[in-house]
Amino acid sequence: SGSLTVLGLESSCDDTAAAVLRRYAGGETEILSSVVYGQTDLHADFGGVVPEIAARAHAEALDHCVEQALTQAECGLGEIEAIAVTAGPGLIGGVVSGVMCAKGLAAATGLPLYGINHLAGHALTPRLTDDVPYPYLMLLVSGGHCQFLMVEGPDSFVRLGGTIDDAPGEAFDKVARLLGLPQPGGPAVEATAAQGAADGFALPRPLLDRPGCDLSFSGLKTAVLRARDAVVAAQGGLPEAARADLCASFQAAIVDVLVEKSHRALDLYRDTGPGQPSFCVAGGVAANTAIRRGLETLCADAGVRFCAPPLALCTDNAAMIAFAAIEQMSTRPPDGFALSARPRWPL
Ligand code: KG4
Ligand code: ZN
Repeated sequence: SGSLTVLGLESSCDDTAAAVLRRYAGGETEILSSVVYGQTDLHADFGGVVPEIAARAHAEALDHCVEQALTQAECGLGEIEAIAVTAGPGLIGGVVSGVMCAKGLAAATGLPLYGINHLAGHALTPRLTDDVPYPYLMLLVSGGHCQFLMVEGPDSFVRLGGTIDDAPGEAFDKVARLLGLPQPGGPAVEATAAQGAADGFALPRPLLDRPGCDLSFSGLKTAVLRARDAVVAAQGGLPEAARADLCASFQAAIVDVLVEKSHRALDLYRDTGPGQPSFCVAGGVAANTAIRRGLETLCADAGVRFCAPPLALCTDNAAMIAFAAIEQMSTRPPDGFALSARPRWPL
């Protein structure tokens, strides 16, 4: 038929996911199904993802997840032509669960097995929905990651810079906790920021005084803590208005830092890469409207095409893992049973 149907699995953090994708002879790819089981409720009482709980939940959910992805795709296991699984980086228990499940499926069917780097999955996603040619510049911003990548091909990435401490999503989550807002912190801080003034508090713009496109967010979080404590000491509590101003000031600092460092990454790219790049953003933090607007404006001013995948494909999912395998099939052989889980796996 000339088409290719791939099953993908993802279990490296707190989402268990399975997806079926089909690439047609003409080159376009269709998502036949993409199932994501979140674990947020399981970890809610602990203030973060608990690795042991996550691993057990993945092991229990993977079978159902795969079954549901096949059912929704109206596709039998017999129609699948390759299996893709996240082999790292991530929480080792979850990654091992996914890899073992994928090996079981590969053993039962004799299908080729591809181990995919989770970050490569995120970084290749723009090509799943948009006609973005290689090479392009990618800003990956999530709860666990923050880096600038030059994406040269399906298996070829150059890291231009990244965070030296926290990821921005982590900073949003911690600030939400400091200010008594619910988790996940990003949406809560963004909503509260809409009621406040961005110049209400003078917060730092970490690393802007240093060249290059490395970032830092841990000092910004500490500055929010100090500002909160000063308000509480002076007023005996944190008034709604001060909380909103703190959220708005914090978000404005994040926007300033991300936009300026993106500007520098574009300049770096222009000095080394061929032609005019597209600028793509992915990861949960890309859901933030202020951040998106800031980056859109930067790209419009620089005459660079801006591209952000739809939100469901920005956050963790298995469609991006199946898609990465489809992209990489032309550049490398399958991993087969030699595949092992890698908790750390830089691109
Ligand atoms: O990509 P993702 O779903 O999971 C990983 O970290 O891999 O990203 C989740 C992160 C959380 O830290 C969450 O607070 C943040 O993305 N986030 C946001 C917004 N929505 C989600 N941060 C800022 N503004 C938002 N609207
Ligand atoms: Zn992720």
